[in-house]
Amino acid sequence: DEQVVVAIDGPSGSGKSSVSRAVATRLEVGYLDTGAMYRALTWWCLERGLDLSDQDAVAVASRELPLVMSHDPQAPAITVDGTAVDLAIRETRISEAVSAVATNLAVRADMKQRQRVLIGEIASATGGVVAEGRDITTVVAPDADVRILLTASEAARLARRSKELHGSDDDSSLERTREQVVARDAKDSTVSQFSVAADGVVTVDTSDLDFEQSVQAVLDVVRAGV
Ligand code: C5P
Repeated sequence: DEQVVVAIDGPSGSGKSSVSRAVATRLEVGYLDTGAMYRALTWWCLERGLDLSDQDAVAVASRELPLVMSHDPQAPAITVDGTAVDLAIRETRISEAVSAVATNLAVRADMKQRQRVLIGEIASATGGVVAEGRDITTVVAPDADVRILLTASEAARLARRSKELHGSDDDSSLERTREQVVARDAKDSTVSQFSVAADGVVTVDTSDLDFEQSVQAVLDVVRAGV
């Protein structure tokens, strides 16, 4: 049987993680959340009291990061040096700091290598992989069987993130979310381009789709592409 590698990129609030996990579950293949890797590195650096603007120190930490990722799409788990960090890496302090780590080019080079190795290992173990992030379709796995850019209008993305972060999409929650999310996407977009599809990358716009429709739209692209 052929192994299928599906690469999915997109901005925050596009539904990338939840849709990618559901797609991996339906395809019965493994899942890789590359954003969680940048978050785990950020957690580790803060844990050790590193100054995130010290590019060399952060690059060394990236190479030494004792990271273990489980690829089960229904229970993605991540440990750093044996400590489960699944919840800690979602804290606001990490979301606010992660772009400083992710814009370090030596870190990106290291993460690219780690992610390529993981994609190969997961695909061999489970028959395929859905890998998601910001630069998977373009840098990490440009030769993936299926490459998708998951997008949504800014209004749709803000409303989704606001419900996730603040449990509501009323005006004041939307405003707080805008400050958090728009600022992060702006910083991230200085090193990876994830708002316009690269050549050969299929755009799936989820603005007017609910969760199940988004999953089906991605599965349609996968079926057409392999
Ligand atoms: O996807 P998530 O929001 O968890 O990603 C967290 C951060 O990791 C992003 O804001 C970005 O700084 C970084 N990232 C990246 N390249 C990827 C995935 C995530 O730079 N492929």
